[in-house]
Amino acid sequence: MTQDSLIHLDAIKKVFLTDEVETHALAEVHFDIAKGEYVSITGPSGCGKSTLLAILGLLDTPSGGTYRLNGREVADIGPGERATIRNQEIGFVFQAFNLIGDLTVFENVELPLTYRDGVSKAERRDRAIAALERVGMAHRVKHYPAQLSGGQQQRVAVARALVGQPSILLADEPTGNLDSKNGEAVMSLLDELHKAGSTICMVTHDPRYADFAGRKIFMFDGRIVDEETMHRLRHEEDQRLMRPARTAASA
Ligand SMILES: Nc1ncnc2c1ncn2[C@@H]1O[C@H](COP(=O)(O)OP(=O)(O)OP(=O)(O)O)[C@@H](O)[C@H]1O
Ligand SMILES: [Mg+2]
Repeated sequence: MTQDSLIHLDAIKKVFLTDEVETHALAEVHFDIAKGEYVSITGPSGCGKSTLLAILGLLDTPSGGTYRLNGREVADIGPGERATIRNQEIGFVFQAFNLIGDLTVFENVELPLTYRDGVSKAERRDRAIAALERVGMAHRVKHYPAQLSGGQQQRVAVARALVGQPSILLADEPTGNLDSKNGEAVMSLLDELHKAGSTICMVTHDPRYADFAGRKIFMFDGRIVDEETMHRLRHEEDQRLMRPARTAASA
């Protein structure tokens, strides 16, 4: 673990138990993210990307292994303090934007600050407006999410993630529900934020978007692998899945 390691994962595992079925979503994941880094995560559907991001964002807990955030072992932290750390250290951006429909743009962005002690109403307002200015949405403060385009909603969601000045921005397929023009706008925004010092970890299916990151991580079947291995395993899996179909069709 390097000194400026913001995130340190050692042998992280995640097993989901449902109806006596065990799903090994993550198997021995090791990796670090340094302060100021921009990391992308790519891999086939079901390989564990969202599971990993949820663990990084303290939305879920691992079944084994060690996670240190800012030098602190996360497993030692109780539920109340976890919520506080999540509020202060983590900014989450989801594929489906997840804005609250009956709050205005301004209220959505202000919301994370209302859970903090000692932030006055005036400070909340100034910070929410500043975050909205950064994403180019300050002209829509009184709109409701349903009155915005998808790209605009995602920019508001980025403002909400940023307003608390988190240590890291976690984005799970932030362009997944957007057309290419809006997708590119959101990617440029993340790029700008990174250049201004934000640490970002983004999951994406799109190799063009993964290229925006300073470091690319590839996953396959619950593990981090190198790019070549991921392509090889994907190819082998495609072959395996196609064979029975071909036999059926030729029969
Ligand atoms: N709550 C859960 N209960 C049981 N199994 C789960 C749960 N969440 C995820 N899984 C399983 O864990 C594996 C990894 O899921 P995950 O959502 O992390 O994949 P992903 O890489 O994000 O896929 P996608 O690209 O489709 O979003 C999958 O096999 C999934 O079925
Ligand atoms: Mg996912």
